[in-house]
Amino acid sequence: GGPVKADVSKVEPGQMINILWRGQPVFVVNRTPKQLDVLESLNGKLKDPTSESSVQPAYVDNINRSIKENLLVVVGICTHLGCSPKYYPDLVPQTFDAEWKGGFFCPCHNSRFDISGRVFAGSPASRNLDIPPYTFLDENTIEIG
Ligand code: FES
Repeated sequence: GGPVKADVSKVEPGQMINILWRGQPVFVVNRTPKQLDVLESLNGKLKDPTSESSVQPAYVDNINRSIKENLLVVVGICTHLGCSPKYYPDLVPQTFDAEWKGGFFCPCHNSRFDISGRVFAGSPASRNLDIPPYTFLDENTIEIG
């Protein structure tokens, strides 16, 4: 398939929707200010905080890894061996990692990603979650691909 359109106006703060693009899940998260506020403080705990080795378009080269600050658009496939990570809005399951503040957790081999899809040190995955190419067609509509 080609590009896919999605209405993002109904995604409540803190919520995620899942869009199928080229047979892959793409997660779209409307992040809250609270979720965004922790990003800077996590840099020292990440493998690639500035996303140097990430697969992502140049226009998301910022700490939010997004065009609009709040709206994350990320490929929902673990960069370790391809499982689909689960979204945790803010839960901190102590059994996984006390440092992790929520984001994405891959149950296959315990890789942890923050709410920008950046991978935590100690995870088997080594690359941040991929960001697909996307644009805003209007305020409420994105086109992926
Ligand atoms: Fe996600 Fe291995 S596939 S941690």
